[in-house]
Amino acid sequence: MEEKLLDLKDLALEEINDAATLLDIENLRVKYLGKKGELTKILKGMGKLSAEERPVIGKIGNEVRDAIEEHLNTKREELKEVAKAEKIAEEVIDVTLPGKKQEIGRRHPITKIVDQVSDIFVGLGFSVAEGPEIDTVHNNFDALNAPKDHPSRDMSDTFYITNDLLLRTQTSPVQVRTMMKETLPIKIISPGRCFRRDTPDATHSPMFHQIEGMVIGKDVTMAELKWTLEEFVKKLFGENTKTKFRPHNFPFTEPSAEVDVTCFKCGGVGCPTCKGEGWIEILGCGMVHPNVLRNCGIDPEIYSGFAFGVGVERLAMFKYEIDDIRLLFENNKRFLQQF
Ligand code: DAH
Repeated sequence: MEEKLLDLKDLALEEINDAATLLDIENLRVKYLGKKGELTKILKGMGKLSAEERPVIGKIGNEVRDAIEEHLNTKREELKEVAKAEKIAEEVIDVTLPGKKQEIGRRHPITKIVDQVSDIFVGLGFSVAEGPEIDTVHNNFDALNAPKDHPSRDMSDTFYITNDLLLRTQTSPVQVRTMMKETLPIKIISPGRCFRRDTPDATHSPMFHQIEGMVIGKDVTMAELKWTLEEFVKKLFGENTKTKFRPHNFPFTEPSAEVDVTCFKCGGVGCPTCKGEGWIEILGCGMVHPNVLRNCGIDPEIYSGFAFGVGVERLAMFKYEIDDIRLLFENNKRFLQQF
Protein backbone atom coordinates (compact mmCIF):
# COMPACT_ATOMS: atom_id res chain seq x y z
CA MET A 1 0.00 0.00 0.00
CA GLU A 2 2.84 2.25 0.84
CA GLU A 3 4.18 1.67 -2.64
CA LYS A 4 0.82 2.46 -4.20
CA LEU A 5 0.67 5.73 -2.28
CA LEU A 6 4.17 6.74 -3.28
CA ASP A 7 3.48 5.86 -6.94
CA LEU A 8 0.33 7.91 -6.78
CA LYS A 9 2.29 10.86 -5.41
CA ASP A 10 4.89 10.62 -8.19
CA LEU A 11 2.25 10.39 -10.88
CA ALA A 12 0.25 13.28 -9.40
CA LEU A 13 3.30 15.54 -9.08
CA GLU A 14 4.29 14.80 -12.65
CA GLU A 15 0.83 15.57 -14.00
CA ILE A 16 0.67 18.75 -11.95
CA ASN A 17 3.99 19.82 -13.38
CA ASP A 18 2.60 19.37 -16.88
CA ALA A 19 -0.60 21.35 -16.17
CA ALA A 20 -0.95 24.25 -18.56
CA THR A 21 -4.05 26.02 -17.28
CA LEU A 22 -5.88 26.78 -14.05
CA LEU A 23 -8.64 24.47 -15.26
CA ASP A 24 -6.10 21.62 -15.52
CA ILE A 25 -5.15 22.28 -11.89
CA GLU A 26 -8.73 22.10 -10.71
CA ASN A 27 -9.30 18.87 -12.66
CA LEU A 28 -6.19 17.31 -11.11
CA ARG A 29 -7.29 18.35 -7.63
CA VAL A 30 -10.59 16.55 -8.15
CA LYS A 31 -8.85 13.59 -9.74
CA TYR A 32 -6.40 13.00 -6.86
CA LEU A 33 -7.82 14.64 -3.73
CA GLY A 34 -11.55 14.70 -4.44
CA LYS A 35 -14.10 12.68 -2.46
CA LYS A 36 -14.03 10.02 -5.15
CA GLY A 37 -10.41 10.70 -6.05
CA GLU A 38 -7.44 8.36 -6.42
CA LEU A 39 -6.10 8.96 -2.90
CA THR A 40 -9.42 8.22 -1.25
CA LYS A 41 -9.70 5.07 -3.33
CA ILE A 42 -6.37 3.74 -1.99
CA LEU A 43 -7.01 4.78 1.59
CA LYS A 44 -10.32 2.93 1.55
CA GLY A 45 -8.25 -0.25 1.70
CA MET A 46 -6.91 0.77 5.14
CA GLY A 47 -9.61 -1.24 6.88
CA LYS A 48 -7.82 -4.38 5.89
CA LEU A 49 -4.56 -3.31 7.53
CA SER A 50 -3.27 -4.47 10.89
CA ALA A 51 -3.36 -2.14 13.89
CA GLU A 52 0.39 -1.52 13.66
CA GLU A 53 0.37 -0.82 9.93
CA ARG A 54 -2.58 1.56 9.99
CA PRO A 55 -0.94 4.61 11.63
CA VAL A 56 2.14 4.19 9.45
CA ILE A 57 0.12 4.09 6.23
CA GLY A 58 -2.17 6.84 7.58
CA LYS A 59 0.87 9.04 8.09
CA ILE A 60 2.17 8.33 4.61
CA GLY A 61 -1.32 9.02 3.22
CA ASN A 62 -1.33 12.40 4.93
CA GLU A 63 2.12 13.20 3.65
CA VAL A 64 1.10 12.30 0.11
CA ARG A 65 -2.02 14.47 0.42
CA ASP A 66 0.02 17.38 1.78
CA ALA A 67 2.60 17.00 -0.97
CA ILE A 68 -0.04 16.93 -3.74
CA GLU A 69 -1.91 19.85 -2.18
CA GLU A 70 1.22 21.92 -1.82
CA HIS A 71 2.24 21.16 -5.36
CA LEU A 72 -1.21 22.08 -6.63
CA ASN A 73 -1.04 25.39 -4.78
CA THR A 74 2.40 26.23 -6.04
CA LYS A 75 1.51 25.41 -9.62
CA ARG A 76 -1.79 27.32 -9.33
CA GLU A 77 0.02 30.46 -8.19
CA GLU A 78 2.53 30.03 -10.97
CA LEU A 79 -0.17 29.74 -13.61
CA LYS A 80 -2.00 32.72 -12.16
CA GLU A 81 1.16 34.78 -12.52
CA VAL A 82 1.60 33.64 -16.10
CA ALA A 83 -2.03 34.53 -16.93
CA LYS A 84 -1.61 37.93 -15.31
CA ALA A 85 1.60 38.62 -17.20
CA GLU A 86 -0.07 37.60 -20.48
CA LYS A 87 -2.99 39.90 -19.77
CA ILE A 88 -0.72 42.82 -18.99
CA ALA A 89 1.30 42.17 -22.13
CA GLU A 90 -1.92 42.14 -24.14
CA GLU A 91 -3.19 45.39 -22.68
CA VAL A 92 0.06 47.25 -22.68
CA ILE A 93 -0.12 50.85 -23.91
CA ASP A 94 2.86 52.00 -25.88
CA VAL A 95 3.13 55.60 -24.80
CA THR A 96 5.82 56.22 -27.39
CA LEU A 97 3.44 55.59 -30.34
CA PRO A 98 2.45 58.78 -32.16
CA GLY A 99 -1.13 59.79 -31.24
CA LYS A 100 -4.04 59.92 -33.64
CA LYS A 101 -4.55 63.57 -34.60
CA GLN A 102 -8.08 64.86 -34.32
CA GLU A 103 -8.56 67.11 -37.33
CA ILE A 104 -11.03 69.88 -36.72
CA GLY A 105 -12.69 71.31 -39.80
CA ARG A 106 -13.16 74.97 -40.51
CA ARG A 107 -15.39 77.10 -42.70
CA HIS A 108 -14.45 77.61 -46.32
CA PRO A 109 -13.47 81.23 -47.15
CA ILE A 110 -16.54 81.51 -49.40
CA THR A 111 -18.78 80.39 -46.55
CA LYS A 112 -17.06 82.84 -44.22
CA ILE A 113 -17.73 85.77 -46.55
CA VAL A 114 -21.35 84.70 -47.09
CA ASP A 115 -21.81 84.45 -43.31
CA GLN A 116 -20.19 87.85 -42.69
CA VAL A 117 -22.22 89.61 -45.38
CA SER A 118 -25.41 87.89 -44.23
CA ASP A 119 -24.77 88.95 -40.63
CA ILE A 120 -24.31 92.57 -41.71
CA PHE A 121 -27.56 92.67 -43.68
CA VAL A 122 -29.54 90.76 -41.08
CA GLY A 123 -28.31 93.45 -38.67
CA LEU A 124 -29.84 96.03 -41.03
CA GLY A 125 -33.20 94.27 -40.90
CA PHE A 126 -32.93 92.10 -44.02
CA SER A 127 -34.03 88.49 -44.10
CA VAL A 128 -32.37 85.71 -46.07
CA ALA A 129 -34.24 84.23 -49.05
CA GLU A 130 -33.22 81.18 -51.01
CA GLY A 131 -33.72 80.21 -54.61
CA PRO A 132 -32.91 77.14 -56.72
CA GLU A 133 -29.76 76.77 -58.80
CA ILE A 134 -31.84 75.48 -61.69
CA ASP A 135 -34.35 78.14 -62.67
CA THR A 136 -36.50 79.15 -65.60
CA VAL A 137 -35.40 81.31 -68.50
CA HIS A 138 -38.32 83.50 -67.50
CA ASN A 139 -37.02 84.12 -63.95
CA ASN A 140 -33.37 84.42 -64.97
CA PHE A 141 -33.84 86.65 -68.04
CA ASP A 142 -37.36 87.56 -69.24
CA ALA A 143 -38.89 88.82 -66.01
CA LEU A 144 -35.65 90.69 -65.31
CA ASN A 145 -36.14 92.76 -68.46
CA ALA A 146 -33.21 91.23 -70.34
CA PRO A 147 -33.64 92.03 -74.05
CA LYS A 148 -34.31 88.96 -76.24
CA ASP A 149 -30.94 89.47 -77.93
CA HIS A 150 -28.92 90.08 -74.77
CA PRO A 151 -25.51 88.36 -75.22
CA SER A 152 -25.70 86.70 -71.80
CA ARG A 153 -28.59 84.57 -73.12
CA ASP A 154 -26.32 82.89 -75.67
CA MET A 155 -25.69 79.16 -75.53
CA SER A 156 -22.03 80.09 -75.32
CA ASP A 157 -22.61 81.99 -72.06
CA THR A 158 -25.34 80.07 -70.28
CA PHE A 159 -25.79 76.40 -69.39
CA TYR A 160 -29.23 75.47 -70.72
CA ILE A 161 -30.98 72.34 -69.50
CA THR A 162 -34.00 72.69 -71.82
CA ASN A 163 -35.36 75.61 -73.83
CA ASP A 164 -37.02 76.90 -70.66
CA LEU A 165 -34.66 75.75 -67.90
CA LEU A 166 -31.09 76.77 -67.16
CA LEU A 167 -28.44 76.88 -64.45
CA ARG A 168 -29.02 80.38 -63.14
CA THR A 169 -26.37 82.83 -64.30
CA GLN A 170 -27.00 85.19 -61.39
CA THR A 171 -28.88 85.29 -58.08
CA SER A 172 -31.19 87.97 -59.50
CA PRO A 173 -34.02 85.47 -60.33
CA VAL A 174 -34.58 85.26 -56.57
CA GLN A 175 -35.81 88.88 -56.88
CA VAL A 176 -38.56 87.67 -59.20
CA ARG A 177 -39.46 84.65 -57.05
CA THR A 178 -39.64 86.81 -53.92
CA MET A 179 -41.76 89.56 -55.49
CA MET A 180 -44.16 86.94 -56.87
CA LYS A 181 -44.81 85.31 -53.51
CA GLU A 182 -44.06 87.73 -50.66
CA THR A 183 -46.17 90.59 -49.41
CA LEU A 184 -44.73 94.09 -49.50
CA PRO A 185 -42.59 95.65 -48.17
CA ILE A 186 -39.70 93.30 -49.03
CA LYS A 187 -36.17 93.45 -47.64
CA ILE A 188 -34.12 90.41 -48.55
CA ILE A 189 -30.67 89.18 -49.39
CA SER A 190 -30.09 85.90 -51.19
CA PRO A 191 -26.70 84.22 -51.29
CA GLY A 192 -26.12 81.33 -53.65
CA ARG A 193 -24.31 79.55 -56.43
CA CYS A 194 -24.38 80.71 -60.06
CA PHE A 195 -23.09 79.23 -63.30
CA ARG A 196 -21.71 80.59 -66.54
CA ARG A 197 -19.96 78.93 -69.45
CA ASP A 198 -16.60 80.45 -68.65
CA THR A 199 -13.29 78.69 -69.13
CA PRO A 200 -11.55 78.64 -65.76
CA ASP A 201 -8.65 81.04 -65.38
CA ALA A 202 -7.26 83.18 -62.55
CA THR A 203 -10.41 85.34 -62.42
CA HIS A 204 -13.12 83.10 -63.94
CA SER A 205 -14.85 79.98 -62.71
CA PRO A 206 -17.90 78.37 -64.37
CA MET A 207 -19.35 78.05 -60.87
CA PHE A 208 -19.26 81.00 -58.51
CA HIS A 209 -21.31 82.73 -55.81
CA GLN A 210 -23.29 85.93 -55.59
CA ILE A 211 -25.29 87.64 -52.92
CA GLU A 212 -28.37 89.39 -54.20
CA GLY A 213 -30.10 92.13 -52.24
CA MET A 214 -33.46 93.77 -52.80
CA VAL A 215 -35.71 96.28 -51.02
CA ILE A 216 -39.21 97.05 -52.32
CA GLY A 217 -41.70 99.36 -50.65
CA LYS A 218 -43.28 102.79 -50.84
CA ASP A 219 -40.88 105.71 -51.33
CA VAL A 220 -37.71 103.61 -51.53
CA THR A 221 -35.10 105.93 -53.01
CA MET A 222 -31.59 105.92 -54.42
CA ALA A 223 -30.46 107.72 -51.25
CA GLU A 224 -31.45 104.66 -49.24
CA LEU A 225 -29.60 102.42 -51.67
CA LYS A 226 -26.46 104.51 -51.18
CA TRP A 227 -26.80 104.60 -47.39
CA THR A 228 -27.38 100.85 -47.18
CA LEU A 229 -24.40 99.96 -49.34
CA GLU A 230 -22.14 102.47 -47.58
CA GLU A 231 -23.07 100.93 -44.24
CA PHE A 232 -22.41 97.45 -45.62
CA VAL A 233 -19.02 98.38 -47.03
CA LYS A 234 -17.88 100.06 -43.79
CA LYS A 235 -18.90 97.04 -41.75
CA LEU A 236 -17.11 94.65 -44.11
CA PHE A 237 -13.93 96.58 -44.92
CA GLY A 238 -13.63 99.10 -42.07
CA GLU A 239 -15.15 102.42 -40.98
CA ASN A 240 -12.86 104.56 -43.15
CA THR A 241 -13.82 102.86 -46.40
CA LYS A 242 -15.20 105.25 -49.03
CA THR A 243 -17.56 104.31 -51.84
CA LYS A 244 -17.84 105.53 -55.42
CA PHE A 245 -20.99 104.97 -57.51
CA ARG A 246 -20.15 104.75 -61.21
CA PRO A 247 -22.99 104.86 -63.76
CA HIS A 248 -23.50 101.49 -65.41
CA ASN A 249 -26.14 99.57 -67.29
CA PHE A 250 -28.12 96.52 -66.15
CA PRO A 251 -31.39 95.47 -67.80
CA PHE A 252 -33.16 95.11 -64.44
CA THR A 253 -32.27 98.47 -62.89
CA GLU A 254 -32.69 102.10 -63.89
CA PRO A 255 -30.59 103.98 -63.05
CA SER A 256 -27.81 101.42 -62.55
CA ALA A 257 -24.41 101.77 -60.96
CA GLU A 258 -21.28 99.86 -60.15
CA VAL A 259 -19.80 100.46 -56.73
CA ASP A 260 -16.10 100.82 -56.05
CA VAL A 261 -14.61 100.98 -52.56
CA THR A 262 -11.29 102.39 -51.43
CA CYS A 263 -8.75 99.60 -51.12
CA PHE A 264 -8.85 98.28 -47.55
CA LYS A 265 -5.13 97.50 -47.76
CA CYS A 266 -3.69 100.89 -48.79
CA GLY A 267 -6.66 103.13 -48.01
CA GLY A 268 -6.84 104.36 -51.61
CA VAL A 269 -3.22 105.29 -52.34
CA GLY A 270 -2.61 102.33 -54.64
CA CYS A 271 -0.92 99.00 -53.85
CA PRO A 272 -0.56 95.49 -55.32
CA THR A 273 -3.90 94.39 -53.83
CA CYS A 274 -5.83 97.03 -55.81
CA LYS A 275 -3.34 96.85 -58.70
CA GLY A 276 -2.32 100.43 -58.04
CA GLU A 277 -5.86 101.75 -58.57
CA GLY A 278 -6.69 102.66 -54.98
CA TRP A 279 -10.24 101.50 -55.73
CA ILE A 280 -11.80 98.04 -55.93
CA GLU A 281 -15.04 97.31 -57.79
CA ILE A 282 -17.25 95.14 -55.61
CA LEU A 283 -20.86 95.14 -56.81
CA GLY A 284 -23.59 96.19 -59.20
CA CYS A 285 -26.76 97.92 -58.11
CA GLY A 286 -29.58 100.24 -59.08
CA MET A 287 -33.25 101.14 -58.74
CA VAL A 288 -35.45 98.21 -59.74
CA HIS A 289 -36.68 98.82 -63.32
CA PRO A 290 -40.44 99.57 -63.57
CA ASN A 291 -40.72 96.73 -66.13
CA VAL A 292 -39.38 94.26 -63.57
CA LEU A 293 -41.88 95.45 -60.97
CA ARG A 294 -44.69 95.13 -63.51
CA ASN A 295 -43.49 91.66 -64.60
CA CYS A 296 -43.82 90.60 -60.98
CA GLY A 297 -47.27 92.11 -60.44
CA ILE A 298 -46.17 95.20 -58.54
CA ASP A 299 -47.44 98.65 -59.53
CA PRO A 300 -44.41 100.93 -60.20
CA GLU A 301 -46.64 103.98 -59.69
CA ILE A 302 -47.07 103.03 -56.03
CA TYR A 303 -43.95 101.04 -55.20
CA SER A 304 -40.26 101.43 -55.87
CA GLY A 305 -37.17 99.54 -54.86
CA PHE A 306 -33.47 99.02 -55.14
CA ALA A 307 -31.37 95.95 -55.77
CA PHE A 308 -27.75 94.93 -55.77
CA GLY A 309 -25.60 91.92 -56.56
CA VAL A 310 -22.21 91.15 -55.00
CA GLY A 311 -19.66 88.66 -56.29
CA VAL A 312 -18.57 86.54 -53.34
CA GLU A 313 -15.33 85.18 -54.83
CA ARG A 314 -14.20 88.72 -55.60
CA LEU A 315 -14.77 89.77 -51.99
CA ALA A 316 -13.01 86.66 -50.69
CA MET A 317 -10.06 87.18 -53.02
CA PHE A 318 -9.61 90.77 -51.90
CA LYS A 319 -10.16 90.11 -48.22
CA TYR A 320 -7.89 87.08 -48.05
CA GLU A 321 -5.46 88.25 -50.76
CA ILE A 322 -5.98 85.23 -53.00
CA ASP A 323 -4.74 85.83 -56.54
CA ASP A 324 -6.34 82.87 -58.33
CA ILE A 325 -10.05 82.03 -58.09
CA ARG A 326 -9.34 78.36 -58.87
CA LEU A 327 -7.60 77.97 -55.50
CA LEU A 328 -11.01 78.42 -53.87
CA PHE A 329 -12.42 75.29 -55.51
CA GLU A 330 -9.50 72.89 -55.63
CA ASN A 331 -10.13 71.82 -52.03
CA ASN A 332 -6.48 71.63 -51.23
CA LYS A 333 -6.44 71.30 -47.46
CA ARG A 334 -3.09 73.02 -47.08
CA PHE A 335 -4.50 76.05 -48.85
CA LEU A 336 -7.83 76.09 -47.02
CA GLN A 337 -6.25 75.63 -43.59
CA GLN A 338 -4.87 79.16 -43.79
CA PHE A 339 -8.25 80.79 -43.32
N1 DAH B 1 -26.93 90.21 -61.63
C1 DAH B 1 -25.81 91.10 -61.86
C2 DAH B 1 -24.63 90.32 -62.41
O1 DAH B 1 -24.66 89.11 -62.34
C3 DAH B 1 -25.42 91.79 -60.59
C4 DAH B 1 -26.43 92.79 -60.22
C5 DAH B 1 -26.33 94.09 -60.67
C6 DAH B 1 -27.52 92.45 -59.43
C7 DAH B 1 -27.26 95.04 -60.34
C8 DAH B 1 -28.47 93.41 -59.08
C9 DAH B 1 -28.32 94.70 -59.55
O2 DAH B 1 -29.53 93.13 -58.33
O3 DAH B 1 -29.27 95.62 -59.22
O4 DAH B 1 -23.71 90.90 -62.88
